[in-house]
Amino acid sequence: MKKLIAGNWKLNGNFAMAQAFDMAMMDTVTNYNHVDWLICAPFPYIPSLENCIRGAQDCSAHQEGAYTGEISADMLADIGCDYCIDGHSERRAMHGETDEVVKEKAARVLDSGMTAIICVGETLSEREAGNELDVVETQIKKSLPSNSSAQNTVIAYEPVWAIGTGRAATADDVLKMHAHIRQLLKSTLASGTEMRILYGGSVKPSNASELMNLDNVDGALIGGASLKSEDFIAIGAAVIK
Ligand code: PGA
Repeated sequence: MKKLIAGNWKLNGNFAMAQAFDMAMMDTVTNYNHVDWLICAPFPYIPSLENCIRGAQDCSAHQEGAYTGEISADMLADIGCDYCIDGHSERRAMHGETDEVVKEKAARVLDSGMTAIICVGETLSEREAGNELDVVETQIKKSLPSNSSAQNTVIAYEPVWAIGTGRAATADDVLKMHAHIRQLLKSTLASGTEMRILYGGSVKPSNASELMNLDNVDGALIGGASLKSEDFIAIGAAVIK
């Protein structure tokens, strides 16, 4: 399976930056075609990304109707998005998204024909209490729609304490969690062996070769280091062919 190198720009960037970034991706997607390159830009800049795979950072739980300001999964698919991030910890924490909401949104994403990147991860206090495996297992069980498969769903394991802190999880932590998730997916889904499991949380060029080449790590979800094309490209280039 090809690894997925996914950038999440969050609330950053502008039109000129998106255009320059896309230019930098033009050769990259050919030179490093052993991985898939995805950028999840803010909505207005998604169409500017023509050279890499397009994704969104969120979508509405509703299909259409009187929901001012919302953007539906169908609209995103309509403008050429192939992926949509769902249940990022920032949305869970700041927008009150529960596992139930995450599951509803994921269902809209799958209905639209896009692939859902469902984010899960424990907080620091949950880890300190030794509950990280249970927390993540529960999130996965409650957030995945019943028709999730390796073809339409990606899991992103992002420990909340590692996001934007510069402090990535250790290789041992990642190995242990990803093995646990793989086991869970295998035991609950027919295609569980093939479902991609991304790691996210302070992935950068300096830790990419260690983290990206671990067992059951099928790519990365990258925040801060996806804003500079050189850094983003260096992370994908660190994946062993
Ligand atoms: P980070 O963010 O790479 O800046 O830690 C990751 C994410 O939020 O997806």
